[in-house]
Amino acid sequence: MTHSNAVGEWLDIGPVDQIAPGHARTLPVRGGEEIAIFHTLDNQFYALVNACPHKRGPLSQGIVHGSVVTCPLHSWNISLKTGHALGNDEGCVPTIPLKLDAGRIFLLREAVLGKKAA
Ligand code: FES
Repeated sequence: MTHSNAVGEWLDIGPVDQIAPGHARTLPVRGGEEIAIFHTLDNQFYALVNACPHKRGPLSQGIVHGSVVTCPLHSWNISLKTGHALGNDEGCVPTIPLKLDAGRIFLLREAVLGKKAA
């Protein structure tokens, strides 16, 4: 068995078909912020910290339209691409690098677990 540096760089969080288009699922992170993974109606996937930049509303429960989610609490619109609030609202939530490979979703380990991860 050889070990490449790339092994473990990405966290496999499961098959893409676990999230229906227009929906999201959450990924609890021990010792860290819960993450929301979104599947848009045009078949893009995005991951953000599951806390609205306004008052930490659960973005995973918001309405997805285009590459935007509307927060379920006070209807701020948050870009899934950048994590920035749109329109007149200001704030930003961290985004998590995500890739798809062979029908599965991967998140960048370092972004999920932080630099402390061994
Ligand atoms: S907490 Fe999201 S809009 Fe207020």
